Amino acid sequence: MKHLLTTEGIDPAQATAILDTAASLKQALEGREVRKLPTLRGRTVITVFYENSTRTRVSFEIAGKWMSADVVNVSSSGSSVGKGESLRDTALTLAAAGADCVIVRHPASGAAHRLAGWLREAGTSVVNAGDGMHEHPTQALLDAATLRERLGELRGRRIAIVGDVLHSRVARSNVHLLTALGADVTLVAPPTLLPTGVASWPVTVSHELDAELPSLDAVMLLRVQAERMHGGFFPSAREYSIAYGLSERRLKLLPEHAVVLHPGPMLRGMEIASAVADSPRAAITDQVRNGVHVRMAVLYHLLAHEEETA
Ligand code: CP
Repeated sequence: MKHLLTTEGIDPAQATAILDTAASLKQALEGREVRKLPTLRGRTVITVFYENSTRTRVSFEIAGKWMSADVVNVSSSGSSVGKGESLRDTALTLAAAGADCVIVRHPASGAAHRLAGWLREAGTSVVNAGDGMHEHPTQALLDAATLRERLGELRGRRIAIVGDVLHSRVARSNVHLLTALGADVTLVAPPTLLPTGVASWPVTVSHELDAELPSLDAVMLLRVQAERMHGGFFPSAREYSIAYGLSERRLKLLPEHAVVLHPGPMLRGMEIASAVADSPRAAITDQVRNGVHVRMAVLYHLLAHEEETA
């Protein structure tokens, strides 16, 4: 694997290999068998974030450091991006400076693909850490890792993705990955927050959350992305919360074993009640923890695995 840009068309065997690596790393690190691996010593990983992030950025930095890579963080505000330097020139500069892997978050859909094209000659790997409303593949992988921990095999599991699907790169990457792994995915959203092409997606669509909850194995709530809604938000925040928010009443409609996910950042009281977010049914902090191991596994498969198996 040279890049991780999308989960669309992902080989289930490749995805499972990454998830298995992440699970082994987690076991070794949390069992304190090892504190840090030497695997990426001498390799340089650069994160470039043109949009805000807490979870993705921090976990990639920790992942790189726990693999002994040299990790450099670049943000749009503190770099020459602020002086108007283009994405292409920034990418070529990072490659010339010695990046083995560039991890990029950008507001434009397709930015990570463009970057991978520009860096082909340099041989630098690219990871998409979220591009506009398009994809966030490592989020989907960490969600799958968390679901596997709680539910085991995902084939045949019924998973609902609820809320602002229209603006969600998390939803797109999860639809591709979860269906590739054999899960049965339902999107639950008001018609105004679904993409126009959703009929061609390999999912079922519902507008009624209460009707779906009793037969689910997992429910994944999405943040309502007000920053991408330039024409206003319909339904209103109050209507949304009443129709699609996971309240304590709705939590009781889920089967006992069903797990609640949220990629974060959460809007408590909007898409999820605070008591639900803090309940043992929610796997939100597990998702963050698994994010580190999944991103270590991704860096391993991009930068070390091919060399080891060559
Ligand atoms: N889930 C996620 O991508 O969170 P951050 O925006 O904090 O990275």
